Amino acid sequence: MYTRRNHKHLTRAQKQAFVAAVLELKRNGTYDDLVRTHQRYFVPDDDDGLRVGHMTPSFFPWHRRYLLEFENALRALDSSLSVPYWDWTTDNTPAAALWGEDFLGGTGRAGDRQVMTGAFAYERGNWPIRVGVTDGHYLTRNLGRPDRPIALPTAAELQWAVEDPVYDASPWDSTASGGGFRNKLEGWAAPRSERWRNHNKVHQWIGGHMTGATSPNDPAFWLHHSFVDLVWDRWQARHPDSGYLPAGPLGIADRQRGRVISLDEAMPPWDQTPHELLGHQGVYRYE
Ligand code: CU
Ligand code: CU
Repeated sequence: MYTRRNHKHLTRAQKQAFVAAVLELKRNGTYDDLVRTHQRYFVPDDDDGLRVGHMTPSFFPWHRRYLLEFENALRALDSSLSVPYWDWTTDNTPAAALWGEDFLGGTGRAGDRQVMTGAFAYERGNWPIRVGVTDGHYLTRNLGRPDRPIALPTAAELQWAVEDPVYDASPWDSTASGGGFRNKLEGWAAPRSERWRNHNKVHQWIGGHMTGATSPNDPAFWLHHSFVDLVWDRWQARHPDSGYLPAGPLGIADRQRGRVISLDEAMPPWDQTPHELLGHQGVYRYE
């Protein structure tokens, strides 16, 4: 059993060790394989295929399993490591320590949005982008989107999702608007005046690579999703009598049949079900 910590409480040496291991995974190819996995399972609503990672009930368990892939690779290099988390409701400006020279580096420069500081700056030579390349091979960000400002989600916005006692609702996609914790936290369900909420809004706030199918190209991805994973725990604790939905395979007439994962169906590319990932007791805990 190991601990996932708020990045704010990491020592300088712990940040250094985390960054060094991430760079080693990049060097040995593991990191880009992980980015490819995310890209492959980035299937939107309007596609007829199976949606296992996004716009779908298995958003939480799929990303839990995905983070464990990354974390296991980190820990194989250095067993003191885990994925830190970033609470974006409190740590909510580009001046936060998260974006420091000694950790993830800062926003992109004007013009091409290229990240110029920290270990993941292209010019350092250790972070070439190879998966999902459109223009340059450099990491891009646009923190806070100054051209069209967007704020990180507030505590009240997060609470709005956590207070919903229903896990998810038909049609089990990004339009599930009648309610559901999953769609409110993933962030497609939003008031008319807003396009994004919670998880999605954070991707938009960071900008650059974080807005697309290859978002794990930005190491901020892992800290963001570590917090999303923690929030799933909070929802479970708040609603002990609510469970994952759909609880069983959808009926023959349901348009979403074969396109979403119910409680006991395996989530590709792994042979694990949401049921098996409802908890993480004995593996890791949050501090
Ligand atoms: Cu994702
Ligand atoms: Cu995400």
